[in-house]
Amino acid sequence: MSFPSSLLDPEVAVNPYPFYQRLRTEDPVYWDEKMQVWVISRYADVVALAHDPRMSGIPPQNPTGEPRHQVLQKLTNNLVMFTDQPDHTRLRGLMEKAFNPRVDGVRERVQQVADSLIDAVADRGRMEVMRDLAVPLPLTVQSEFIGVPMSDSMQLTQWQAGLADFVFFTSFTPSTKENDRRTLQNLLALTDYFRPLIEQRRKEPKDDLITALVYAEEEGDYLSQQEALISSIVLTMGSFLSITVALANCVLGLCRNPDQMQKLQDQPALLESAVEELLRYESQVQFSPRRANKDFEMHGQLIRKDQIVIVGLGSSNRDESRFSNPDQLDITRADNRHLAFGYGPHGCIAARLARLHLRIAISTLMRRLKELHLETDDLVWNGAPMFRSIESLPVTFAMK
Ligand code: HEM
Repeated sequence: MSFPSSLLDPEVAVNPYPFYQRLRTEDPVYWDEKMQVWVISRYADVVALAHDPRMSGIPPQNPTGEPRHQVLQKLTNNLVMFTDQPDHTRLRGLMEKAFNPRVDGVRERVQQVADSLIDAVADRGRMEVMRDLAVPLPLTVQSEFIGVPMSDSMQLTQWQAGLADFVFFTSFTPSTKENDRRTLQNLLALTDYFRPLIEQRRKEPKDDLITALVYAEEEGDYLSQQEALISSIVLTMGSFLSITVALANCVLGLCRNPDQMQKLQDQPALLESAVEELLRYESQVQFSPRRANKDFEMHGQLIRKDQIVIVGLGSSNRDESRFSNPDQLDITRADNRHLAFGYGPHGCIAARLARLHLRIAISTLMRRLKELHLETDDLVWNGAPMFRSIESLPVTFAMK
């Protein structure tokens, strides 16, 4: 059997970890021919590159000067992930001013919704974790947090899914006109949705994130209309998509390691350490995409200006030179400085909010359910090398 040569190979989508391990050992700076990107796989290199000024946001154009993707170009301006210092510091600072003070306010609501979702499946003895918990929990809480009516949130997730598919998958494969057209349509639908909402909040402020973004101020500086718009879209996308996938991956990690789940049920004080370990063990964001802004050499490879470098978070989290027995889930793991939320200036803006959801959801499951088992081991992974997610997660359980 031949070993895979690309992150796009189907067996890597199911289980990328053996491929990463070989890259870390033999090819720590690897040219993935199919994706046309450099793959960085070692923890120490990923950490070093996070603060390296030779790394920029994803490119608006390829080395020939042509727009790499019309869609990327439209997204590039004002999107926090794609900006560099000093613009990034300013934009992120204003976003944090709006976002951070609101986070702790959702705690009670997360608990309430988690309990009501478990109530709804209690008599059945089975649930599909995505449909019954991981999707509706953040959708309900975060719709209120952001300030969009719950009745619109399913439509928003559909437009966002189209955009996410592009960001995590299609943008690394040869583009088709049809693909670009569909992605642009989704982006347009989202901007058409949020633009009037932002205008309305400017006139009639409410107690929600959109209002907070409109009015966020730092020494007389505010987000421009376009910045508030793109920030609303990206924060909604993170809210609806990222927490869902992380929660499903955490439940999967526990179900596949029943001894660790038992330990957590016996010792609830291990909750925080367990959530960190589950994030390390099955990280949904497998890579941070960057662009080299000048030629440079790394481990004997010449990385050229404007080439894309994808920085391996999932691989770093399984790096044997940083974590002992990295392929083992150990909810008591000490010194667990994983990279599931990224690292450096672009590290996740919402890590505290995400942790809050995950801790409450997992502790509610552990407190109220027992005998939680996967209904099938035949799980379907989404196949996107950048963002690792399962399609559905059916489980059986008994109530305590
Ligand atoms: C468990 C859930 C989550 C995980 C694992 C996660 C992971 C990440 C990672 C790895 C990055 C770094 C990307 C990079 O370096 O290119 C990131 C950045 C980001 N995340 Fe999250 N995220 C989560 C939840 C959220 C949520 C709920 C939101 C929004 C409410 C969010 C919004 C963002 C934003 C805006 C950035 C860009 C920050 C910047 O470029 O300065 N994330 N996230």
